Amino acid sequence: MTPDDIEKVQSSFNELKPILRSMGGLFYANLFTIAPHVRPLFKANVDEQGRKLMETLGTVVSLLRHPEKMGPAIISLGERHATYTVREEYFEPVGQALIATLRQTLDEKFTPEVELAWVNVYTAASQLMQLGLSQGRQRLANQQRGQLVEIQAPQAAPAIREVWWKRLLRLLRLQHLTRADR
Ligand code: HEM
Repeated sequence: MTPDDIEKVQSSFNELKPILRSMGGLFYANLFTIAPHVRPLFKANVDEQGRKLMETLGTVVSLLRHPEKMGPAIISLGERHATYTVREEYFEPVGQALIATLRQTLDEKFTPEVELAWVNVYTAASQLMQLGLSQGRQRLANQQRGQLVEIQAPQAAPAIREVWWKRLLRLLRLQHLTRADR
């Protein structure tokens, strides 16, 4: 995630602000088409959930220039996702649904450069979420064992980051090919 990515994501997000509420529904429609198996995880009303998700996206985007605040907020969100029984492999379809929603909403303003900037930001956020997720799982397991153990601050996991980055790039290259082929 570079300063240029941050600039692109923040300015495209400003375009979305007036229609954020409607994007939540579109995002879930895309997600449940791409990954119907994650539907049972969502217990709350998806409109309400969509609103929260888009608000959080707004918070993440506004904090991109303040990683010292953004990091802990996303890690603790990731920790909560352990109680929602989220798995690491679900981040890929969620990323695809987000990118598809942005493409449908921003239309021609969603250039390949803007797309790549969003992928970079989503990848960075997913890495932090997954660190939180594994902490959250450890915390739940400790609670189940009746222990109250404070978990150490997470260490960056470059290997995981690399795998994610490659997977998403591969995915986007395929998407570009499909678009060009049409
Ligand atoms: C960067 C990625 C993500 C962000 C920013 C995000 C954001 C959020 C937010 C703000 C909430 C509201 C509850 C809370 O604050 O604890 C939430 C809940 C939830 N998220 Fe995520 N999420 C992400 C990734 C995922 C993934 C990969 C999944 C897997 C399918 C997922 C599944 C859920 C579920 C099941 C809930 C609870 C919904 C319910 O109780 O009905 N999230 N998420």
